[in-house]
Amino acid sequence: MNILLIGSGGREHALAYALAKSPLCTRLFTAPGNPGTAQHGENRPDLPVADHAAVRAFCEREGIGLVVVGPEAPLVAGLVDDLTEAGIRAFGPTRAAAQLEGSKGFTKDLCARYGIPTAAYARFSALDPALAYLRGTGAPIVVKADGLAAGKGVTVADTLEQAEAALRALLSEPGAEVVIEECLVGEEASFFALCDGTRAIPVGTAQDHKRVFDGDRGPNTGGMGAYSPASIVTPELERAVMETIIAPTLRGMRERGTPFTGILYAGLMLTEAGPKLIEFNTRFGDPEAQVLMPRLASDLVPALLSACDGDLAGVALEFDPHRAALTVVMAAAGYPGTVLRGSEIRGVAEAAASDDTFVFQAGTRAEGDRLLADGGRVLAVTALGDSVMDAQARAYAAVARIDWPEGFCRRDIGRRAVAREVAGEGI
Ligand code: AMP
Ligand code: GLY
Repeated sequence: MNILLIGSGGREHALAYALAKSPLCTRLFTAPGNPGTAQHGENRPDLPVADHAAVRAFCEREGIGLVVVGPEAPLVAGLVDDLTEAGIRAFGPTRAAAQLEGSKGFTKDLCARYGIPTAAYARFSALDPALAYLRGTGAPIVVKADGLAAGKGVTVADTLEQAEAALRALLSEPGAEVVIEECLVGEEASFFALCDGTRAIPVGTAQDHKRVFDGDRGPNTGGMGAYSPASIVTPELERAVMETIIAPTLRGMRERGTPFTGILYAGLMLTEAGPKLIEFNTRFGDPEAQVLMPRLASDLVPALLSACDGDLAGVALEFDPHRAALTVVMAAAGYPGTVLRGSEIRGVAEAAASDDTFVFQAGTRAEGDRLLADGGRVLAVTALGDSVMDAQARAYAAVARIDWPEGFCRRDIGRRAVAREVAGEGI
């Protein structure tokens, strides 16, 4: 079968790697793609992904049997609805179901209605009542933009002044909405479930590192590195998350008439009172996909097809339980602020030379046989190992082979898991 993958980030390079490996995959196209996805199939930068009629025509022309949507924006724009209506199998939620990611307020209201554990909250679209509410709650407190903000619309404010400044900035945009919520304390984990509208199966855990600098300092980013599995998510915790968060969400979405199909990615805070939902995403994580895909022991394609067809009964997506993966994101200097593009990156082939290291490309551009930086997050340097500590050592050894003076990375990806392994609690 021919497959079309939508997107151009490190996640899509990792998905392209997993999809192309499938014996069911005849040709893989990625639109727009990047130099990394081009290693596994054909890039189609000429296909305007926002033009759903053009995507549909492409699928009909190329006999596409499955469309896999990587990022959130095309989901929220209704690409899956339009393709499904045209009889083309597309993996991912409909526009209405992608509200779980597209609107934080929508998700908070669903949580309230179905008793899903999450931070206490209130929604506002005007400044004065929002400021009054803040004065009642005090700090620390969290202020969030309602809509999509690439992981950057959140302020965890230690003081009321910070919270007020965030509120004023967000609500100065016409039509803006904000969510103000209780600051949860605990360790975070990313939890992935594959859903067919009715059923869900857990498909792995990871831990992201959102802050830009070592020691979780500096502003939030799209994610500076990750590892999988998140050993802090024990089998008991996994059951609790499936029962108290994933299952009621699927029930709620079905009851609203907007069943959820696709990857439901729960960003969790593991608090003393149990796992609580920080946010949902409706797709694989980036950089979490870069650690899940290399650990995948089963074929991704039949599982995605079964989810599209509403029939996950009997399907399992197996991850090698004895192998950990760790990825280090190399970003361009200045990220998450303004970055300079066009600096040359050398050493990618050397860094990815062994079977258990991978350099997934994100913001890169090929110019002749030179590879240039062309974005904020540029590479996700990934390694498999027998433990997170082992994967960490291999990933940083691969990072050392990359010759890119204009880039930087965190030096402490995986530190929590490594500390747990040293204490004898590893995989
Ligand atoms: P989000 O975009 O909602 O995932 O938020 C980005 C990051 O902000 C999360 O990964 C957390 O580190 C932090 N965060 C969001 N909501 C809360 C909360 N209620 N309490 C504490 N930290 C939060
Ligand atoms: N790693 C965070 C995200 O994909 O949203």
